[in-house]
Amino acid sequence: MTRLIIGAMVRPIGAYPSGWRYPGAHRDPRGDAAVLRRTARLAEEARLDYLFFGDWLATGYDLEHQEPHLVARVDPLSAIAHLAAVTERIGLIATVDSSYADPYAVARATASIDLLSGGRAGLNLVTSADPRAAANHGVDFEVANAVRYERAIEFERVLRRLWDSFDDDAFVADASSGVLLAPGSLHPTDFRGRHLQVAGPLNVVRPVQGHLPIVRSGGSPRSQLIAAQSADLALVAANDLAHAASVREELRALAFEAGRDDRTLKVVAPVLPIIGETREHAQQFADELSELVQIAEDWPDGPPAGFPATRSLANLSPLVGVELQGVSPDLAVTPQIAAQFGATGQQLVEIVAERTGRTPGGLRPPTLRHLVVAATVNAPIIVGTAADIANEFEAWGDAGAVDGFNVLSAVQPTQFEAFTSLVAPELRRRGVLPAAYEGETLREHLGLARPESSFARPVYAGAFI
Ligand SMILES: Cc1cc2nc3c(=O)[nH]c(=O)nc-3n(C[C@H](O)[C@H](O)[C@H](O)COP(=O)(O)O)c2cc1C
Repeated sequence: MTRLIIGAMVRPIGAYPSGWRYPGAHRDPRGDAAVLRRTARLAEEARLDYLFFGDWLATGYDLEHQEPHLVARVDPLSAIAHLAAVTERIGLIATVDSSYADPYAVARATASIDLLSGGRAGLNLVTSADPRAAANHGVDFEVANAVRYERAIEFERVLRRLWDSFDDDAFVADASSGVLLAPGSLHPTDFRGRHLQVAGPLNVVRPVQGHLPIVRSGGSPRSQLIAAQSADLALVAANDLAHAASVREELRALAFEAGRDDRTLKVVAPVLPIIGETREHAQQFADELSELVQIAEDWPDGPPAGFPATRSLANLSPLVGVELQGVSPDLAVTPQIAAQFGATGQQLVEIVAERTGRTPGGLRPPTLRHLVVAATVNAPIIVGTAADIANEFEAWGDAGAVDGFNVLSAVQPTQFEAFTSLVAPELRRRGVLPAAYEGETLREHLGLARPESSFARPVYAGAFI
């Protein structure tokens, strides 16, 4: 089997909306430091390629039920700087939003963390659109939103120029002659874009990796284009293998059109494995998690402000094609009821059966609540044993659908422990993960070459956007 890129998408209070409610789960962000350190050590022992920290520059009650992991979180650059000190080999990827960040400060922090970690840092550059993030940075949202992609492109260009400020061999450091810095080895940045102006040079040496690997995540044509033109890793949300395969093909075709070697663009998909010692255990666990997801009907006087409107029987009703007003969410879906459902309703019944083992004719039939959860928890879930998960990974890899996965954990710390103690050994046994780290830097883990400095070449070869 070919090697896949496997990273951990770190969400300290769990990636499943009700994960934090599970007995024994880590649920108080004030204790994140210990969970982060433990996650990092386990991931490294398991030979994962990187830890990946997403981000969101705002918070509010609306996130409590939709994306509880976003309510309160450690700043990603701070997290990776900290974890660099408690790990030795694993890559460390942090998210930065180019709409609001200052490029000189980001170039400086990332070059510093790359140096401090021995070349293990990576950067996920996003251009998300939340009016609260704009308000938090004193920026007019309409303006920020209109120019976010132009700014994103400039941001990456200026980062790369800043990282190239010093030549790799700039420091002669010859104590006898008194020459510290070779003449001509420090280059001004002189970047004048529409949105960003940076004089440079950067006051940190060229990163160990030359340029940090850049990740882009998103599904719109604009996000895809920006990923294809210059990213090292594209994180794409894919519903199934066929979808992932078509997205990867499209991205690689765009990369080729942009004049790149398309093999240098790696495509990874997020995945949320729900892992058990047996398939029945895993399904039982998935079942308990879905029962812990609250739906609007759980509040007789209506859900709290910010509750996701879709998570309700009122929303399920048109999906299944049956009137559900006044019906209990815990009504069992019998074969007679399921027979009245339209195509989407049938699909939801199948999803619930696959994840929880509940079937309309079985001993444990699904309830309407299970269908609401299946319709509204939008995560790429695989439920099963270590072998089931490894089979799925291999199937996607063998089909050329992805170059790897970003692994989410439904409940922390137990499900990440299950991934590292059960699934990772299976992946190593199959050669999907290496038995030992083969490279030193994140670039090497990803199978990517170290880029030359743009100042090292007499002719600008167009390798960068
Ligand atoms: C799998 C995945 C993960 C993402 N993670 C983040 C994130 O952590 N923070 C963020 O601000 N945006 C995140 N995004 C959003 C994208 O980076 C992008 O900015 C957003 O989709 C808006 O892009 P659009 O203009 O293509 O709609 C993620 C997107 C995907 C598909």
